[in-house]
Amino acid sequence: MFRKILILSILLSLIACNNSLTTKEKQQYIKKGKEITKASFSELSSNLMQQMKIGGSEQAIPFCNTQAMPITKRMEDKFNVTIKRTSDKLRNSENKPSKRELEIISDYESELKNNKELIPVVEINMDKNVQFYAPIIIDSKCMTCHGKLGEGLNVKTDSLIKTLYPKDLAKGYKEGDLRGIWSVEFNK
Ligand code: HEC
Repeated sequence: MFRKILILSILLSLIACNNSLTTKEKQQYIKKGKEITKASFSELSSNLMQQMKIGGSEQAIPFCNTQAMPITKRMEDKFNVTIKRTSDKLRNSENKPSKRELEIISDYESELKNNKELIPVVEINMDKNVQFYAPIIIDSKCMTCHGKLGEGLNVKTDSLIKTLYPKDLAKGYKEGDLRGIWSVEFNK
């Protein structure tokens, strides 16, 4: 009987090991995930700001429309990961969240409401790969394209966005709001 319990518990712990990470591994992946999302954010935002400087949102929005994906792809190749930016209020339907991503977003929403610190999440996903999630928060630079009409977003920009993204839900934000999440999958 005891032997059976022993064998069973060893088996169970093996299964558990397969599906969970040690604290140390988690810390390492969090560090790596932060590095990747920081680099991707600065790549996307520096390109965007450059376009804004050259031709305002009229130039920056079409740029985003065609270049956000290729820029992200370059970062994916560089780090051997899959990078996604997703949200519960989408602009680009290609960034659609999974069920798990929606849960993470809603957890972050309630943590934000309760004034808690939003920290990255690392876990093993369904494909048995490590998956990293981190919040994306709205700052002043985002308001031109994601703010409220009249508060950051002007009529011209609004109509340009509507033309490119007729189903856009990604406006009406204020600084400090949760815009969405990074979701990074580490390839094997
Ligand atoms: C010049 C306009 C512009 C600015 C400024 C801008 N965005 Fe966007 N954003 C877009 C457009 C256009 C898309 C859709 C194309 C894409 O990136 O996939 C988008 C998409 C996104 C997405 C992907 C999810 C979705 O809804 O499709 C996130 C997340 C996001 N923006 C966050 C931000 C944050 C955070 C800032 C500020 C640091 C910001 N954006 C600034 C225009 C802008």
